Amino acid sequence: MRFDGKTVVITGAASGIGAEATRLFASEGAIVFASDIDDEGGKALEQETDGDVRYRHCDVSSTEDIRKLMDGAAQETGGIDVVFNNAGAGGARPGIDEIEPDEWDRTMDLLLRSVAFGIRYAVPHMKGRKGANIVNVSSVAAVGPGYSPTAYAVAKAGVLHLTKCAATDLAQHGIRVNAVQPGFINTNIFTSSMGMEDDMARTAKAVIAQMSSNAQPVMRGGQPRDIAEAVAFLASDAASFMTGTSMLVDGGLTIGPRHSWDPEAPGIFDALEAMQNQGQSPA
Ligand SMILES: NC(=O)c1ccc[n+]([C@@H]2O[C@H](COP(=O)([O-])OP(=O)(O)OC[C@H]3O[C@@H](n4cnc5c(N)ncnc54)[C@H](O)[C@@H]3O)[C@@H](O)[C@H]2O)c1
Repeated sequence: MRFDGKTVVITGAASGIGAEATRLFASEGAIVFASDIDDEGGKALEQETDGDVRYRHCDVSSTEDIRKLMDGAAQETGGIDVVFNNAGAGGARPGIDEIEPDEWDRTMDLLLRSVAFGIRYAVPHMKGRKGANIVNVSSVAAVGPGYSPTAYAVAKAGVLHLTKCAATDLAQHGIRVNAVQPGFINTNIFTSSMGMEDDMARTAKAVIAQMSSNAQPVMRGGQPRDIAEAVAFLASDAASFMTGTSMLVDGGLTIGPRHSWDPEAPGIFDALEAMQNQGQSPA
């Protein structure tokens, strides 16, 4: 019961990583303010989860919604101990040569400004609370291009730097700030970001499940629980000497090219060796 009696606020809690984090924190004694724009999903989560889960509507693109969420949680329980800034979606998909200003702004509001103000409006309610800390969701997309659309990747890289800056700003108040960088995690984010529903979404999810099993050195698909466990560790007192840092939880996705772990995919030296063996010139 690492979070017995603690007040935990989670954004984007109705699905995927946020829902699993809600279940984990609640199972360890926390009062969880689980927020989302998906009211139906959020209320279902509130009902089905054992423990003290309180669903609240909060669109993280609205700073006013975020302020109300944090103020409300603090009013009900006396303060906030942990914030998990998790809400997100795929953002605008065009590359830098085609993206429009409003698409760029919407993506930054959803993925980066939301985290800044998730911190800004929670902190007044966290000061003076022992062990208070914040965990932000970044992504492997922050490591470099190629994992996501450009605006998403830039926002997630911004979350990493924001995490470091906030950690220094808030150290004097004893508030830690860390980030988690999920790899390919099997959630609704891919189909919902493409506006897929019903049968098409179901078919796409089967394909995604297959792809996520084969995407990285660890030979299984990444699950929301993998990320929730890392978030709970960072939020716990076991991580009390960690601030301004980030945990990659990606099954090794970012450590090496496919040929380093997939015997079916030859690397450059394998290809050259095969040519040599056949008596061909590599050129
Ligand atoms: N799934 C992955 O592979 C992956 C990888 C790296 C990072 N992430 C990040 O993890 C976080 C959670 O994503 P997920 O994979 O669990 O996806 P998900 O789609 O299962 O869950 C995202 C939740 O955020 C909510 N949401 C969307 N827009 C919102 C808004 N404006 N205000 C409040 N809530 C909103 C959705 O309703 C949904 O419940 C996101 O920030 C995402 O970018 C996911």
